[in-house]
Amino acid sequence: SVDISTFMRQTGHTTLDYGFVNTAATKSAITFIDGDQGILRYRGYPIEQLAKNSTYLEVAWLLIYGELPTADELSAFDERIRRHTLLHEDLKRFFSALPHTAHPMSVLSAATAALSTYYENESDPHNPEHVELNTVRMLAKLPVIAAYAHKKSVGQAFLYPDNSLGFVDNFLKLNFGVLSEDYDVNAVMSRALERLLILHEDHEQNASTSTVRLVGSTGANQFSSISAGINALYGPLHGGANEAVLDMLGRIRDSGESVERFVERVKNKEDGVKLMGFGHRVYKNYDPRAKLVKESADEVLEALGVSDPLLDLAKELEEIALSDDYFKERRLYPNVDFYTGVIYKAMGFPTRMFTVLFAIGRLPGWLAHWREMQGDAQTKIGRPQQLYTGATERQYPGV
Ligand code: ACO
Repeated sequence: SVDISTFMRQTGHTTLDYGFVNTAATKSAITFIDGDQGILRYRGYPIEQLAKNSTYLEVAWLLIYGELPTADELSAFDERIRRHTLLHEDLKRFFSALPHTAHPMSVLSAATAALSTYYENESDPHNPEHVELNTVRMLAKLPVIAAYAHKKSVGQAFLYPDNSLGFVDNFLKLNFGVLSEDYDVNAVMSRALERLLILHEDHEQNASTSTVRLVGSTGANQFSSISAGINALYGPLHGGANEAVLDMLGRIRDSGESVERFVERVKNKEDGVKLMGFGHRVYKNYDPRAKLVKESADEVLEALGVSDPLLDLAKELEEIALSDDYFKERRLYPNVDFYTGVIYKAMGFPTRMFTVLFAIGRLPGWLAHWREMQGDAQTKIGRPQQLYTGATERQYPGV
């Protein structure tokens, strides 16, 4: 007996599936999505319950190890991550080789790839100790790299991590603290960021996670696989959409164009313009994460004492789009990226940092999938087929 894919191949059948709309490339026990019902669960736990009650690191443990941690497991995990936050001083100098105009996502990806060079003798995907160590290293060091990408873009000095602080508070301090001054973490901001990070932690076989798996299937280590995932996330059709949404809202506001006219241009597909932050390959109903982000946007802005007309503009756009046949027929609803940018902006993050925040959110999911794939006896190198459409055979001139 042979499996179905071997049978198809042996009998000369190939499935052409642009964008893998119908093709499962793996089995996975990490995240459940029902796109028609708008349901998202990590290891069976509803995203709403986790976002309300859990922490980034607790959810990271859940995704990676499959169960909620005990209090002792969680505190040991937290402690271990705090001990690994420092970057090698040489790696810090790596940032100065990049222009200050560099996009922080490019900096994050380049520095993550560079991080692997410090651990080449401890990066064997088949060595469980290496895998554990690098899981912790990445959770500890990527937020520091992300904050340095931010600091570099605004021309400020890098701070050392403050390991007396918890994960999110430390991250906020690294981003917003300045050398000469004390930094008091704003509890509202900290909790709001923690919630947003939790909402991003995993989303099954999205483009960046599939990239991590594809690269990992070749035997590449965690650093290489995840820096590839960061690059996949960068694109505006994926994680880059949160930055694109804010740019879109800013352009509508500055151009004086009415929201109705903008929506008309989207519907007519003028110059390929899209309503960024709308639509999803899997959700054909309201994205449950977008629902939670929208609910907290007003609350967070009010608690931070920020009033932003772009939030009103976003709501107006949503209302017009959701009552329009174009969007109804295509089942296009706001996705997680539609409202996150307004909150990140209220926190003080520059627009170009938004996708970096998404990457830090998604990191535990990437790690969990990379590890699940390594432990799956059925894993093979990822190698899609093609349907060749070129010339069959030609003679080189004069031969
Ligand atoms: N604005 C206007 N029209 C849209 C949009 C949109 N945001 N999204 C999809 N459509 C239209 C398409 O033009 C297409 O119309 P057609 O039937 O007339 O050709 C139809 O809806 C189906 O869209 P597809 O592109 O086939 O859907 P697909 O599943 O391939 O793409 C995607 C999903 C990439 C998310 C798409 O909806 C999109 O580009 N959205 C905007 C970018 C965005 O917000 N990305 C973030 C996704 S969520 C995430 O990564 C976290």
